[in-house]
Amino acid sequence: MDILRVVRYLALVFWGLPWTLLASELIDIKRDVELAISLKPNLDNGRILYSLCIVCHSPEGWGSHNGYYPQIAGQLPGVLIKQLADIRARNRDNPTMLPFSLLQALGGVQGMADVSAYISALPMSRDSDVGPGFDLALGEELYRKECAECHGDRGEGDDKEHIPMLQGQHYSYLKRQFNWIRIGKRRNADEKMVKQIQRFSQREISAMMDYVSRLKPPQEKLAPPGWQNPDFPGFSRTNLPPEMHRRDWRELPLPPTRPTMPQ
Ligand code: HEC
Ligand code: HEC
Repeated sequence: MDILRVVRYLALVFWGLPWTLLASELIDIKRDVELAISLKPNLDNGRILYSLCIVCHSPEGWGSHNGYYPQIAGQLPGVLIKQLADIRARNRDNPTMLPFSLLQALGGVQGMADVSAYISALPMSRDSDVGPGFDLALGEELYRKECAECHGDRGEGDDKEHIPMLQGQHYSYLKRQFNWIRIGKRRNADEKMVKQIQRFSQREISAMMDYVSRLKPPQEKLAPPGWQNPDFPGFSRTNLPPEMHRRDWRELPLPPTRPTMPQ
């Protein structure tokens, strides 16, 4: 029997939630990540748990063009597990999502494995946002020299090393996360990467992220055109950012323009 789990249980029974949260902090995150990765995931349970996430991430998990939400669909399961654990441990600041990353919400380490496997199996968006395209040759050169050894030639990532797949990620999200890793705001990042990226100028960063945002996932990972996740038929999309309302938002008629004054 694990002593920290006993402490957490006693805290829950005797002192209520604040102490429970404190005690769950003490649980060894690295060990939870390794355990979750070794478990056999249950996709049905993953789907049930994902209903906690869709209010923000939407049933498809495709993120938003403005980069506020990342595309999480299709991400490598080991990466999803590590990010969830890091958010829970507050190694990565995400106050709105924190309660949803707690093991109490996910029903333990098994739940973390289940929801991550479900998300990772979701087909990906064909329409992730890309940069302005000014400086792609520089972006490609730098990416190949500085990033490909870890993130892969095509941005495919590495599940075993928890290196994120960058394919299909939105441009603004990539830029924000890269800068947060660089200035140390995202404290969970790979130390070697943090050191290596200090010397880039903003021009170089934009060029690299632009190039990276154009690395598309392979055809078999993409959703068919017009796909909507059938697992959550009753979900109301009205609270999501406009581009997440409907799958084909680019084809919608533009909102009525304001009437102009007669000349
Ligand atoms: C209240 C809104 C909200 C809810 C609910 C929520 N998330 Fe998030 N999540 C976010 C935001 C915002 C980000 C981006 C944070 C950032 O910019 O660092 C995020 C980021 C993530 C990431 C990191 C992805 C990456 O590649 O960097 C993962 C993984 C994730 N969420 C999984 C989940 C799961 C699983 C659930 C449900 C159990 C969930 N989220 C529920 C808002 C939410
Ligand atoms: C030594 C290996 C390594 C190198 C080199 C490296 N990275 Fe990373 N990168 C990582 C790891 C590991 C993470 C995940 C950190 C974490 O756990 O949050 C990451 C995270 C990221 C993220 C955040 C992705 C997300 O979904 O949240 C971006 C963007 C990124 N890297 C871009 C780059 C670019 C561009 C370069 C080249 C300039 C680069 N990286 C070089 C290992 C590396």
